[in-house]
Amino acid sequence: MSDKNQEFPIDLELEAPLKKVRYPGFDMDIMSMQLVTEAHLTEGKAVIHLRPVSAPPEVREELENQIAAMVREATGVKEVEVHSPEPPKPKKEEKGPHPIDGVKWVIPVASGKGGVGKSTVAVNLAMALSALGLKVGILDLDLYGPSVPMMLGVTGMQPDAVGDKIGPIMAHGLKAMSVGFLIKADTALIWRGPLVMKAVRQLLHDVAWAPLDVLVLDLPPGTGDVQITMAQEVPITGAVVVTTPQDVALTDAIKGVDMFRQVGAPIMGIVENMSYFNCPDCGSRHEIFGHGSVKPLCEKLGVPYLGEIPLDPALRQLADLGQPKAVLESPAGEPYRELAKKVMDQLNSQD
Ligand SMILES: Nc1ncnc2c1ncn2[C@@H]1O[C@H](COP(=O)(O)OP(=O)(O)O)[C@@H](O)[C@H]1O
Ligand SMILES: [Mg+2]
Repeated sequence: MSDKNQEFPIDLELEAPLKKVRYPGFDMDIMSMQLVTEAHLTEGKAVIHLRPVSAPPEVREELENQIAAMVREATGVKEVEVHSPEPPKPKKEEKGPHPIDGVKWVIPVASGKGGVGKSTVAVNLAMALSALGLKVGILDLDLYGPSVPMMLGVTGMQPDAVGDKIGPIMAHGLKAMSVGFLIKADTALIWRGPLVMKAVRQLLHDVAWAPLDVLVLDLPPGTGDVQITMAQEVPITGAVVVTTPQDVALTDAIKGVDMFRQVGAPIMGIVENMSYFNCPDCGSRHEIFGHGSVKPLCEKLGVPYLGEIPLDPALRQLADLGQPKAVLESPAGEPYRELAKKVMDQLNSQD
């Protein structure tokens, strides 16, 4: 381009024809809309540059055809070249799951409905995996009812900053993080979609988890924004689905399994919680919820059966007092030690 052209970006003889070109669907001409950035006539050829505009391809084509027709008619040149660039695409956010720095495996603990023992399983599984010698973290993603701080006996603790990350709370050898550490216990937060996504993303990626072998995720019940964001944000090693042997809970377990399948996440299997009750008075085993229905369900769904955990009042007491170590070392901890071994086997077979 010559200096002269830079000074006068639109050749005079092209102004008039371009003024006749109306933007498709609008009353204004493209000159008044300041769409034309350059227009030159050289050696029997017209070259016209437009500003980038968002338009469907057919509108773009109509515009180019109109320009060519008007310029040809007015100047008699045969060759008309119209450049109408597409606007730059809005910069895409970093999409797709990407591993958490320094974390090898991610195990979400999920269920279709609340109160089936997800958090209890998540905390005790994390403790049992840690007792097997792994470096373990637990992330409470139940934004609506965080219970990990209470179950670990560390309510009211406040995380420190570690560089540009949030330092996890150390509790019983686990690295723990929960919305419960970040907001006041009595703050009622209304979590809407975008806020949920932001919180989940930050809890996964902006916490100083490294180095960890396993990060256990305690999910809220159901199949909502938290679960979807989680699946979009991190590669999942395998999900543990918790259910009780009641019919309703089983339906929810199927939904839970379906959800992970739909996001392409592998499933470690289903745990049957509150499966039976060992009566401390009479010593006999009571199968209150119709025990035994989860194993056949697993076979039907083609996912591993991860075992059963009895209804144990001692467990409830210790869990609610925030003493996971006492749980693990008591008879109540046995089913979790078994569960951890099964999970460990699956982890080892992934290497
Ligand atoms: N196997 C069990 N035996 C006795 N109580 C249990 C058992 N599993 C969970 N609980 C108790 O049930 C309640 C709900 O469990 P929780 O883990 O918070 O469920 P969720 O996270 O699925 O909502 C808690 O008080 C917990 O201590
Ligand atoms: Mg819970």
